[in-house]
Amino acid sequence: MSGATGANGARRKPIVAGNWKMNYGPTEGREFAESILGDLIAIPQVESVLCPPAITLTAVHAVTDGAVKLGAQNMYFEARGAYTGEISPTMLQGLCTYVILGHSERRGYFGETDELVNRKAKAAFEYGLRPIVCVGERLEDRDANLTERFITTQVKGSLGGLPAERLSELVVAYEPIWAIGTGRAATAQDAADVVSLIRAQLAELYGAEVVAGVRVQYGGSVTSANIAEFAANPAIDGALVGGASLTPDFVAIVQCVAEVKG
Ligand code: PGA
Repeated sequence: MSGATGANGARRKPIVAGNWKMNYGPTEGREFAESILGDLIAIPQVESVLCPPAITLTAVHAVTDGAVKLGAQNMYFEARGAYTGEISPTMLQGLCTYVILGHSERRGYFGETDELVNRKAKAAFEYGLRPIVCVGERLEDRDANLTERFITTQVKGSLGGLPAERLSELVVAYEPIWAIGTGRAATAQDAADVVSLIRAQLAELYGAEVVAGVRVQYGGSVTSANIAEFAANPAIDGALVGGASLTPDFVAIVQCVAEVKG
């Protein structure tokens, strides 16, 4: 599809990640992954990523066995130590390809700042994990025409200082907070406008050529009923899916992205 190309004209592979959030322990998670695995493997045009809770990663890894990639939902930036309750990048190595960082629920409920997200993103690169870094404005910001300022601050604060030569490993998820779990998705045009802004900010940091290889997803109330609209926009490289990733609708979303981006 025109526009979805990276450095050297290489096509950016669409990526659809399922953020299970705090759902599915090891037994349920393994069963659900088993139930959708074959269908996901049959859609190789799209990179599917399952992001179970940390405690479920090993069980899901046992059934996916590398055939579908996994992501963690969070991690700390230190490799080990006295950080009760945290998961380190080294613990994720071998289990996960990706790690979601700076999700708005982490930022909102657990006080994560751009600075912390940035340290985590740097650690992800250091330990060979690919970060999916989330940015997105609140409804108040959008209504006050502050989306651009807000996103610019988040991108600069969360995504500076990463290794430019490996930037194609970065995925950014644009997730307007007002669209998450509300059933009120952004329009594809609104999402694409912010995705362009994200790319422009990244280009200021790293140069346009490098940034052409970075994939940017949309997230927020994505379902199989609305994904086609987002996938049809060349600026949007896929989706970060919450609620719908807990059901077979996730497969329908991946299938639709494959067809539309075809
Ligand atoms: P949702 O969540 O699809 O349930 O809106 C998206 C997300 O938080 O990543």
